[in-house]
Order: sequence, then C-alpha cells, then structure tokens
Amino acid sequence: MSGPADAWAQRAEGAKDRVRHVVALIVGWTVVALVTYVKSAGRSLFSLDKTLSWMPLWPDQNVESVGVIETGRLSLRQLTADDAEFILELLNESPFIQNIGDRGVRTRADAARYILNGPVASYEKHGFGLYLVELSASRAPIGICGLLKRDFLDDADIGFAFLQRFWSHGYAHEAASAVMEHGRNVLGLKRILAVTAPDNPSSIRLLGKIGLRFDKMIGMPGAEEPRRLFASDAQ
Ligand SMILES: CC(C)(COP(=O)(O)OP(=O)(O)OC[C@H]1O[C@@H](n2cnc3c(N)ncnc32)[C@H](O)[C@@H]1OP(=O)(O)O)[C@@H](O)C(=O)NCCC(=O)NCCS
Repeated sequence: MSGPADAWAQRAEGAKDRVRHVVALIVGWTVVALVTYVKSAGRSLFSLDKTLSWMPLWPDQNVESVGVIETGRLSLRQLTADDAEFILELLNESPFIQNIGDRGVRTRADAARYILNGPVASYEKHGFGLYLVELSASRAPIGICGLLKRDFLDDADIGFAFLQRFWSHGYAHEAASAVMEHGRNVLGLKRILAVTAPDNPSSIRLLGKIGLRFDKMIGMPGAEEPRRLFASDAQ
C-alpha cells in the first residue's frame, strides 16, 4: 500500500541519488584535472619550455606589461617573459643574426632568459631598454626598438630590429623617431649613439633619417670586425 509517506520517501531517495550523481561528477572531473596537471608538470621537470608554457596559469607569474610610447600606428611597451615566442622568431631571422649577432636563442626558454637578463634587467638598472613594438590596431608584435646602455660606451645607443615581413612600411622609422624623442625629452639624454655592422645599409639609412651621423669605427666586445659608431647631440 502506498501513501503520502511512501511518495515522500521515494522523492527523498531520488533527491539523494541526484546529489550522489553530482558529487561523483565533481570528484571525477577534479581527478581528471589533477591527473592532467600533474602529468604536464611532471613533463615540465625535464623541459623548461613546458614549465614556461604553464607559467601564465599562475597569477603571480603573469607580469603586467608597461606601456612606454604611443605613435600614430605603433605602441612600444616593456618586454616580459610572455613575449618569448616573438623574440625567438625575431632573433633567429637571418638579417638579425647577420647584422646584430647570433644570441644563441633557440628555444622559448632561451628567449625568456634573454628578455629577463637583457631588456628587463636594463629597465631595472637604467630606467630604459629595448621595447616591444606592436601595431596599435591589432596588438601584433612586429619588432623591438629602444635604448641600451653598454659598459664600453659612454652614452646610451639606439637599437632596433623588425621582422622581415614588416619591413618597408616606415614602422622602424616611426618607432626609432619616437624613441629618440623619448630619450631627449623624457630621459634627458644629451648624446645618443648607435652601433652598426660596417655594411648594413637599411640601418644606416634609418639612422640618417633620425638625425645620427657617422662618428668613427670602433671595436666591439665579441665582434670580430670593427663597427660603425654614429652619434647625435641635442641642439
Ligand atoms: C633596420 C631595419 C629595422 C630597417 O627596416 P626598414 O623596413 O628599412 O625601415 P622602415 O620600417 O622605416 O621602412 C622604410 C621604408 O618604408 C617606406 N615606407 C613605406 N610606407 C611608409 C610610410 N607610411 N611611412 C614611412 N615610410 C614608408 C620608406 O619609403 C622606406 O623605404 P626605403 O627603405 O626604400 O627608403 C630592418 O632592416 C631590420 O630589422 N634589420 C635587421 C636588424 C638590424 O639590422 N638592426 C639594426 C642594427 S644596428
């Protein structure tokens, strides 16, 4: 015989079943997520690249990028380790290796180390460094441009390199002009230098456009052949 008490008991049993089902699902998905994470973290013990690829998942590793200069078409901002993929590509293009040098950056982990030990260390030590150049409209990274302070030179020098597919649009000129203005008006630099390989016509042409003149040939640590030194003094 079934009465209201039986119906209530059946409903209660049904509700318990549904709760058990939901708990089982939550436990199941948690286990799957944990196993996936542990497996990836385990692999990363043997590969710094994998470790870096997990870093953005950790909020305290996600460094905010700092904007520095805006031009008509471009945004220049501080590099962070999250830009490793782009730096890996740029530093392995043949014009970069030929005109600037082989930095030995072959993996994302190498690129992240390069960013942290180079540009980021320079921001902290000098208050400036090489910046990432992005197209303002799409935020696509296209090159690097900024100021460096080398131990063997008395003054800061301007540096730039762009991915080949973004050459001949005037982007390097636009970025370098803005960096010169920033150096003069924000950083108060009286003399700005540049160093090029002896035969780098596109770079030398650009330096002329932004007001640098050939000064002399110099030896550069780590470089076999002498380099051209250019200079520009504030009026
Ligand atoms: C140096 C480097 C950045 C120069 O690149 P680039 O493309 O020649 O320079 P720009 O982006 O300023 O483009 C300039 C050209 O775009 C043309 N142009 C097209 N659209 C333009 C626009 N809207 N505004 C201005 N110029 C424009 C210019 O007429 C100019 O042509 P030209 O070279 O025939 O005179 C590039 O060769 C590079 O990255 N090289 C490898 C790294 C390197 O050597 N770095 C220097 C170390 S010292």
